[in-house]
Amino acid sequence: DWTMAAFRDQAIEAIRKQVGSGRVICGLSGGVDSSVAAALIHEAIGDQLVCVFVDHGLLRAGEADQVVKVFRDRFNINLVHSDASDLFLGKLAGKTDPEEKRKIIGATFIDVFEAEAKKVGGADFLAQGTLYPDVIESVSFAGGPSVTIKSHHNVGGLPERMNMKLVEPLRELFKDEVRALGRELGLPDEMVGRHPFPGPGLAIRIPGQEITREKLDILRKADTIYLEEIRNAGLYDAIWQAFAVLLPVKTVGVMGDDRTYDYALALRAVTSTDGMTADYYPFDHGFLGRTANRIINEVRGVNRVVYDVTSKPPGTIEWE
Ligand code: XMP
Repeated sequence: DWTMAAFRDQAIEAIRKQVGSGRVICGLSGGVDSSVAAALIHEAIGDQLVCVFVDHGLLRAGEADQVVKVFRDRFNINLVHSDASDLFLGKLAGKTDPEEKRKIIGATFIDVFEAEAKKVGGADFLAQGTLYPDVIESVSFAGGPSVTIKSHHNVGGLPERMNMKLVEPLRELFKDEVRALGRELGLPDEMVGRHPFPGPGLAIRIPGQEITREKLDILRKADTIYLEEIRNAGLYDAIWQAFAVLLPVKTVGVMGDDRTYDYALALRAVTSTDGMTADYYPFDHGFLGRTANRIINEVRGVNRVVYDVTSKPPGTIEWE
Protein backbone atom coordinates (compact mmCIF):
# COMPACT_ATOMS: atom_id res chain seq x y z
CA ASP A 1 0.00 0.00 0.00
CA TRP A 2 2.02 2.87 -1.35
CA THR A 3 0.94 6.32 -0.26
CA MET A 4 2.53 9.74 -0.51
CA ALA A 5 2.74 9.89 3.28
CA ALA A 6 4.79 6.70 3.26
CA PHE A 7 7.03 8.00 0.49
CA ARG A 8 7.59 11.16 2.46
CA ASP A 9 8.64 9.25 5.59
CA GLN A 10 11.02 7.04 3.62
CA ALA A 11 12.48 10.02 1.78
CA ILE A 12 13.07 11.85 5.06
CA GLU A 13 14.89 8.81 6.46
CA ALA A 14 17.02 8.56 3.32
CA ILE A 15 17.94 12.25 3.43
CA ARG A 16 18.95 12.04 7.10
CA LYS A 17 21.06 8.98 6.39
CA GLN A 18 22.79 10.55 3.39
CA VAL A 19 23.42 13.96 4.92
CA GLY A 20 24.28 13.04 8.51
CA SER A 21 25.33 16.23 10.23
CA GLY A 22 26.39 17.85 6.94
CA ARG A 23 25.10 21.11 5.50
CA VAL A 24 22.86 21.26 2.42
CA ILE A 25 22.34 24.19 0.08
CA CYS A 26 19.32 24.37 -2.22
CA GLY A 27 18.61 26.78 -5.05
CA LEU A 28 14.98 27.91 -4.98
CA SER A 29 13.38 29.23 -8.15
CA GLY A 30 9.73 29.46 -7.13
CA GLY A 31 8.97 26.48 -9.35
CA VAL A 32 7.29 23.30 -8.16
CA ASP A 33 10.31 20.97 -8.16
CA SER A 34 12.78 23.03 -6.18
CA SER A 35 10.02 24.15 -3.78
CA VAL A 36 8.99 20.58 -2.96
CA ALA A 37 12.62 19.44 -2.66
CA ALA A 38 13.36 22.28 -0.23
CA ALA A 39 10.26 21.65 1.92
CA LEU A 40 11.03 17.93 2.11
CA ILE A 41 14.70 18.40 2.98
CA HIS A 42 13.81 21.00 5.58
CA GLU A 43 11.44 18.56 7.21
CA ALA A 44 14.28 16.02 7.30
CA ILE A 45 17.17 18.15 8.54
CA GLY A 46 15.80 21.55 9.62
CA ASP A 47 18.47 24.21 9.94
CA GLN A 48 21.16 22.12 8.28
CA LEU A 49 19.46 23.37 5.09
CA VAL A 50 20.08 26.80 3.60
CA CYS A 51 18.07 27.90 0.57
CA VAL A 52 19.35 30.44 -1.91
CA PHE A 53 16.85 32.24 -4.10
CA VAL A 54 18.63 34.07 -6.92
CA ASP A 55 16.17 36.69 -8.09
CA HIS A 56 17.19 37.59 -11.65
CA GLY A 57 14.47 40.20 -12.03
CA LEU A 58 12.82 38.19 -14.80
CA LEU A 59 10.03 36.61 -12.77
CA ARG A 60 6.30 37.21 -13.02
CA ALA A 61 4.61 39.82 -10.87
CA GLY A 62 4.49 38.78 -7.21
CA GLU A 63 6.50 35.56 -7.54
CA ALA A 64 9.61 36.68 -5.68
CA ASP A 65 7.48 37.91 -2.76
CA GLN A 66 5.64 34.61 -2.65
CA VAL A 67 8.86 32.60 -2.42
CA VAL A 68 10.05 34.71 0.51
CA LYS A 69 6.66 34.61 2.24
CA VAL A 70 6.21 30.87 1.98
CA PHE A 71 9.73 29.68 2.74
CA ARG A 72 11.01 32.25 5.20
CA ASP A 73 7.82 33.35 6.95
CA ARG A 74 5.67 30.25 6.88
CA PHE A 75 8.18 27.37 6.82
CA ASN A 76 10.88 29.17 8.78
CA ILE A 77 13.52 28.03 6.34
CA ASN A 78 16.88 29.72 6.40
CA LEU A 79 16.54 31.62 3.11
CA VAL A 80 18.97 33.91 1.35
CA HIS A 81 17.08 36.17 -1.07
CA SER A 82 19.63 37.57 -3.49
CA ASP A 83 18.13 40.43 -5.50
CA ALA A 84 20.46 40.37 -8.48
CA SER A 85 18.19 42.03 -11.02
CA ASP A 86 20.54 44.96 -11.64
CA LEU A 87 23.39 42.58 -12.38
CA PHE A 88 21.31 40.40 -14.72
CA LEU A 89 19.69 43.30 -16.56
CA GLY A 90 23.07 45.00 -16.88
CA LYS A 91 24.59 41.92 -18.48
CA LEU A 92 21.59 41.50 -20.78
CA ALA A 93 21.68 45.12 -21.98
CA GLY A 94 21.71 45.30 -25.76
CA LYS A 95 21.49 41.49 -26.17
CA THR A 96 18.81 40.15 -28.50
CA ASP A 97 19.95 36.66 -29.51
CA PRO A 98 18.00 33.92 -27.67
CA GLU A 99 20.93 31.59 -27.05
CA GLU A 100 23.18 34.45 -26.01
CA LYS A 101 20.56 35.55 -23.50
CA ARG A 102 20.30 32.00 -22.12
CA LYS A 103 24.08 31.72 -21.76
CA ILE A 104 24.36 35.05 -19.98
CA ILE A 105 21.54 34.20 -17.59
CA GLY A 106 22.90 30.70 -16.89
CA ALA A 107 26.46 31.91 -16.25
CA THR A 108 25.33 34.84 -14.10
CA PHE A 109 23.06 32.56 -12.12
CA ILE A 110 25.97 30.26 -11.29
CA ASP A 111 28.21 33.20 -10.31
CA VAL A 112 25.60 34.67 -7.98
CA PHE A 113 24.65 31.31 -6.50
CA GLU A 114 28.28 30.44 -5.83
CA ALA A 115 28.97 33.81 -4.21
CA GLU A 116 25.93 33.48 -1.94
CA ALA A 117 26.90 29.91 -1.04
CA LYS A 118 30.35 31.11 -0.01
CA LYS A 119 28.85 33.91 2.08
CA VAL A 120 26.88 31.42 4.16
CA GLY A 121 29.97 29.30 4.70
CA GLY A 122 29.50 26.75 1.94
CA ALA A 123 27.88 23.34 2.20
CA ASP A 124 28.65 19.66 1.81
CA PHE A 125 25.64 18.92 -0.39
CA LEU A 126 23.75 20.61 -3.20
CA ALA A 127 20.03 19.82 -3.32
CA GLN A 128 18.30 19.57 -6.68
CA GLY A 129 14.69 18.95 -7.63
CA THR A 130 15.60 16.46 -10.35
CA LEU A 131 12.59 14.35 -11.39
CA TYR A 132 12.45 10.90 -12.96
CA PRO A 133 11.84 12.25 -16.50
CA ASP A 134 14.98 14.43 -16.12
CA VAL A 135 16.98 11.35 -15.16
CA ILE A 136 15.68 9.38 -18.17
CA GLU A 137 16.28 12.27 -20.55
CA SER A 138 19.89 12.79 -19.51
CA VAL A 139 20.58 9.05 -19.76
CA SER A 140 19.10 8.63 -23.22
CA PHE A 141 20.89 11.70 -24.54
CA ALA A 142 24.24 10.88 -22.93
CA GLY A 143 26.91 10.44 -25.57
CA GLY A 144 24.39 10.71 -28.36
CA PRO A 145 24.11 13.54 -30.84
CA SER A 146 22.90 16.82 -29.44
CA VAL A 147 19.19 17.10 -30.08
CA THR A 148 18.76 20.19 -27.93
CA ILE A 149 16.85 22.92 -29.67
CA LYS A 150 17.20 25.37 -26.81
CA SER A 151 19.91 25.19 -24.20
CA HIS A 152 18.22 24.92 -20.82
CA HIS A 153 20.20 26.55 -18.09
CA ASN A 154 20.86 24.54 -14.97
CA VAL A 155 23.56 24.38 -12.34
CA GLY A 156 25.53 21.75 -14.28
CA GLY A 157 29.16 21.70 -13.22
CA LEU A 158 28.48 23.55 -10.00
CA PRO A 159 28.59 20.57 -7.61
CA GLU A 160 32.06 19.58 -8.88
CA ARG A 161 33.30 23.15 -8.90
CA MET A 162 32.23 23.68 -5.31
CA ASN A 163 33.10 20.15 -4.26
CA MET A 164 29.57 19.23 -3.19
CA LYS A 165 27.65 15.98 -3.38
CA LEU A 166 24.11 15.93 -4.77
CA VAL A 167 20.91 15.38 -2.81
CA GLU A 168 18.07 14.58 -5.20
CA PRO A 169 15.10 13.29 -3.20
CA LEU A 170 12.61 13.53 -6.11
CA ARG A 171 14.57 11.36 -8.56
CA GLU A 172 11.94 8.62 -8.59
CA LEU A 173 8.91 10.84 -9.00
CA PHE A 174 6.85 12.14 -11.88
CA LYS A 175 5.46 15.65 -11.87
CA ASP A 176 2.00 14.72 -10.59
CA GLU A 177 3.60 12.78 -7.72
CA VAL A 178 5.78 15.76 -6.87
CA ARG A 179 2.64 17.89 -6.71
CA ALA A 180 0.97 15.37 -4.39
CA LEU A 181 4.06 15.32 -2.18
CA GLY A 182 4.08 19.13 -2.10
CA ARG A 183 0.49 19.14 -0.86
CA GLU A 184 1.37 16.50 1.72
CA LEU A 185 4.14 18.83 2.95
CA GLY A 186 1.72 21.74 3.26
CA LEU A 187 2.92 23.88 0.36
CA PRO A 188 0.21 26.25 -0.90
CA ASP A 189 -1.90 25.11 -3.85
CA GLU A 190 -0.87 28.09 -6.01
CA MET A 191 2.72 26.96 -5.69
CA VAL A 192 2.20 23.22 -6.08
CA GLY A 193 -0.16 23.56 -9.06
CA ARG A 194 1.85 26.22 -10.85
CA HIS A 195 2.54 25.99 -14.58
CA PRO A 196 6.14 25.32 -15.59
CA PHE A 197 8.20 28.48 -15.98
CA PRO A 198 11.50 28.65 -17.89
CA GLY A 199 14.75 29.39 -16.05
CA PRO A 200 15.52 32.47 -18.19
CA GLY A 201 12.05 33.72 -17.31
CA LEU A 202 10.57 36.75 -19.02
CA ALA A 203 13.83 37.37 -20.92
CA ILE A 204 12.72 34.87 -23.58
CA ARG A 205 9.22 36.41 -23.69
CA ILE A 206 10.59 39.71 -24.99
CA PRO A 207 11.93 38.18 -28.19
CA GLY A 208 14.25 39.76 -30.73
CA GLN A 209 14.72 43.03 -28.89
CA GLU A 210 16.56 44.56 -25.99
CA ILE A 211 15.21 43.73 -22.53
CA THR A 212 14.45 46.80 -20.46
CA ARG A 213 12.70 47.39 -17.16
CA GLU A 214 9.98 49.27 -19.02
CA LYS A 215 9.26 46.31 -21.29
CA LEU A 216 9.37 43.87 -18.37
CA ASP A 217 6.85 46.04 -16.59
CA ILE A 218 4.46 46.08 -19.56
CA LEU A 219 4.81 42.32 -20.01
CA ARG A 220 4.18 41.62 -16.31
CA LYS A 221 1.00 43.69 -16.27
CA ALA A 222 -0.41 42.00 -19.37
CA ASP A 223 0.61 38.55 -18.14
CA THR A 224 -1.09 39.14 -14.78
CA ILE A 225 -4.38 40.09 -16.46
CA TYR A 226 -4.19 37.10 -18.80
CA LEU A 227 -3.63 34.62 -15.96
CA GLU A 228 -6.32 36.27 -13.87
CA GLU A 229 -8.82 35.77 -16.71
CA ILE A 230 -7.69 32.15 -17.13
CA ARG A 231 -8.19 31.48 -13.41
CA ASN A 232 -11.55 33.26 -13.38
CA ALA A 233 -12.69 31.09 -16.27
CA GLY A 234 -11.64 27.99 -14.33
CA LEU A 235 -9.16 26.99 -17.03
CA TYR A 236 -5.80 27.21 -15.22
CA ASP A 237 -5.49 23.49 -14.46
CA ALA A 238 -6.56 22.45 -17.95
CA ILE A 239 -3.64 24.35 -19.46
CA TRP A 240 0.03 23.29 -19.39
CA GLN A 241 1.43 26.80 -19.78
CA ALA A 242 -0.03 30.20 -20.58
CA PHE A 243 1.86 33.45 -20.97
CA ALA A 244 2.12 36.72 -22.82
CA VAL A 245 4.89 37.64 -25.27
CA LEU A 246 5.85 41.26 -25.90
CA LEU A 247 6.46 41.52 -29.63
CA PRO A 248 9.27 43.60 -31.16
CA VAL A 249 6.84 45.64 -33.20
CA LYS A 250 4.73 48.72 -32.61
CA THR A 251 1.44 49.09 -34.41
CA VAL A 252 -0.96 51.95 -35.05
CA GLY A 253 -4.17 52.12 -33.10
CA VAL A 254 -6.93 54.53 -32.20
CA MET A 255 -8.00 55.44 -28.69
CA GLY A 256 -10.83 58.01 -28.44
CA ASP A 257 -9.82 60.81 -30.81
CA ASP A 258 -6.13 59.95 -30.66
CA ARG A 259 -3.82 57.87 -32.75
CA THR A 260 -1.66 55.47 -30.73
CA TYR A 261 1.60 53.79 -31.67
CA ASP A 262 2.26 51.02 -29.15
CA TYR A 263 3.43 47.42 -28.77
CA ALA A 264 1.63 44.39 -30.11
CA LEU A 265 1.39 41.53 -27.64
CA ALA A 266 0.87 37.82 -28.27
CA LEU A 267 -0.97 35.45 -25.94
CA ARG A 268 0.08 31.81 -25.84
CA ALA A 269 -1.57 28.84 -24.12
CA VAL A 270 -0.91 25.16 -24.74
CA THR A 271 -1.90 21.75 -23.48
CA SER A 272 0.82 19.13 -23.12
CA THR A 273 1.84 16.20 -20.95
CA ASP A 274 5.60 16.69 -20.98
CA GLY A 275 6.40 19.86 -22.93
CA MET A 276 7.89 17.84 -25.78
CA THR A 277 4.78 18.20 -27.94
CA ALA A 278 1.92 20.62 -27.38
CA ASP A 279 -1.38 21.78 -28.83
CA TYR A 280 -2.56 25.35 -28.72
CA TYR A 281 -5.46 25.82 -26.32
CA PRO A 282 -8.81 26.41 -28.09
CA PHE A 283 -10.16 29.36 -26.08
CA ASP A 284 -13.58 30.57 -27.11
CA HIS A 285 -13.72 33.95 -28.80
CA GLY A 286 -15.58 35.53 -25.90
CA PHE A 287 -12.65 34.76 -23.62
CA LEU A 288 -10.09 36.06 -26.10
CA GLY A 289 -12.00 39.26 -26.84
CA ARG A 290 -12.57 40.02 -23.15
CA THR A 291 -8.93 39.40 -22.27
CA ALA A 292 -7.62 41.47 -25.19
CA ASN A 293 -9.91 44.35 -24.22
CA ARG A 294 -8.76 44.32 -20.63
CA ILE A 295 -5.09 44.27 -21.61
CA ILE A 296 -5.43 47.12 -24.09
CA ASN A 297 -7.48 49.22 -21.68
CA GLU A 298 -5.42 48.54 -18.58
CA VAL A 299 -1.85 48.22 -19.80
CA ARG A 300 -0.25 51.38 -21.10
CA GLY A 301 2.03 50.66 -24.02
CA VAL A 302 -0.02 47.86 -25.63
CA ASN A 303 -2.62 48.59 -28.30
CA ARG A 304 -2.99 45.25 -30.07
CA VAL A 305 -3.33 41.64 -28.92
CA VAL A 306 -3.01 38.50 -31.04
CA TYR A 307 -3.47 34.82 -30.13
CA ASP A 308 -0.88 32.22 -31.13
CA VAL A 309 -2.53 29.16 -32.74
CA THR A 310 0.70 27.25 -33.42
CA SER A 311 1.12 23.75 -32.00
CA LYS A 312 4.46 22.02 -31.22
CA PRO A 313 5.84 20.86 -33.54
CA PRO A 314 6.32 22.88 -35.68
CA GLY A 315 6.39 25.76 -33.18
CA THR A 316 8.10 25.58 -29.81
CA ILE A 317 6.14 26.53 -26.69
CA GLU A 318 8.22 29.64 -26.00
CA TRP A 319 8.78 32.10 -28.81
CA GLU A 320 12.54 31.90 -28.49
P1 XMP B 1 10.03 24.90 -25.85
O1 XMP B 1 9.93 26.38 -26.01
O2 XMP B 1 11.40 24.36 -26.18
O3 XMP B 1 9.81 24.64 -24.31
O4 XMP B 1 8.95 24.18 -26.58
C1 XMP B 1 9.60 23.37 -23.72
C2 XMP B 1 9.50 23.61 -22.22
O5 XMP B 1 10.74 24.07 -21.73
C3 XMP B 1 10.62 25.38 -21.19
N1 XMP B 1 11.82 26.13 -21.59
C4 XMP B 1 12.86 26.33 -20.79
N2 XMP B 1 13.05 25.98 -19.50
N3 XMP B 1 15.18 27.01 -19.56
C5 XMP B 1 14.22 26.33 -18.90
O6 XMP B 1 14.42 26.06 -17.71
C6 XMP B 1 15.05 27.39 -20.86
O7 XMP B 1 15.94 28.01 -21.44
C7 XMP B 1 13.82 27.03 -21.50
N4 XMP B 1 13.34 27.22 -22.76
C8 XMP B 1 12.10 26.66 -22.79
C9 XMP B 1 9.34 25.95 -21.76
O8 XMP B 1 8.79 26.96 -20.92
C10 XMP B 1 8.49 24.70 -21.85
O9 XMP B 1 7.96 24.35 -20.58
